[in-house]
Amino acid sequence: MEVTRKYIEFEGIKTPGGVHTPESLTWAWKEFEVRDDDVFNATYPKSGTTWLQEILSLIYSNGDPTPVKTKFSWDRVPWLEQHSGRGQVENRPSPRLITTHLPRFLFPQSFQKSKAKVIYTVRNPKDVCVSFYYFSLYAEFMERRENFQDYITHFLSKDVMFGLWFEHVKGWLTMKDNPNFLLLSYDNMTKDLRSNVVKICKFLGKDLDDAAIDSVVEHSSFKAMKENNMSNYSAVPNEIFSKGQGTFHRKGISGDHKNHFTPALEEEFDRIYKEAMKDVDLAFL
Ligand code: A3P
Repeated sequence: MEVTRKYIEFEGIKTPGGVHTPESLTWAWKEFEVRDDDVFNATYPKSGTTWLQEILSLIYSNGDPTPVKTKFSWDRVPWLEQHSGRGQVENRPSPRLITTHLPRFLFPQSFQKSKAKVIYTVRNPKDVCVSFYYFSLYAEFMERRENFQDYITHFLSKDVMFGLWFEHVKGWLTMKDNPNFLLLSYDNMTKDLRSNVVKICKFLGKDLDDAAIDSVVEHSSFKAMKENNMSNYSAVPNEIFSKGQGTFHRKGISGDHKNHFTPALEEEFDRIYKEAMKDVDLAFL
């Protein structure tokens, strides 16, 4: 993979070049054939993608931690739209667990006539912005900004990777009444992971006993994942994740924006949020 900080633009959405190509995005959108038993882990970046990869892997192993300890997260629940996606996903046996950051309008067209399930995890956008900023300091495929204040401006612009948070969330929320769609809150998961795991199992029709649920919770905790070399991205080469500039499992908390936004910046962000989300009920966040 050629590592570049240049983004490519596809249907108005910027994605990291090298990792994505127009061909891989077109394939995911127009050619990929969704199966009825596919399960999608859909997120805006920095909203709990890797966490859900771990939880889904553990649910599908009935709480047995062997797969999460022996196989990389990106091989267990691969990204659909990346250049490696087709090879990873196309011939995988069912049920396929698939990760995507695609906005709803670029999601596979064949999904429409399938019974596949989508789990969409939302996180407080101010925390997403903080997490994204730190990620940009060591992810060599991300555009960088001088400081956090400049990063907020970038986050609130169309230039941000995978498009505006507001548009991404609003696009996916159009599915909220679909029985094959489950909306999760990262912030709620940090408060009560177990009840969210139970909710996910119910949604997927997976009947795990209490001990298996406990194991899912234990092995998907922040601490367990931070220490798991199959999930903490420590195996990614320095040309992609520049070690020493940050770690993937940074804090894993809800509300870290309070340590980064000045009152004035927070007020401005809240004003933009209110305007952009005025027709959306996200009270649960
Ligand atoms: P922070 O940078 O705020 O720590 P994604 O996987 O979508 O890129 O999201 C990354 C964010 O999720 C990071 O947030 C990371 O620490 C957090 N995260 C990953 N695993 C987690 C877990 N088990 N519990 C809580 N947060 C987790």
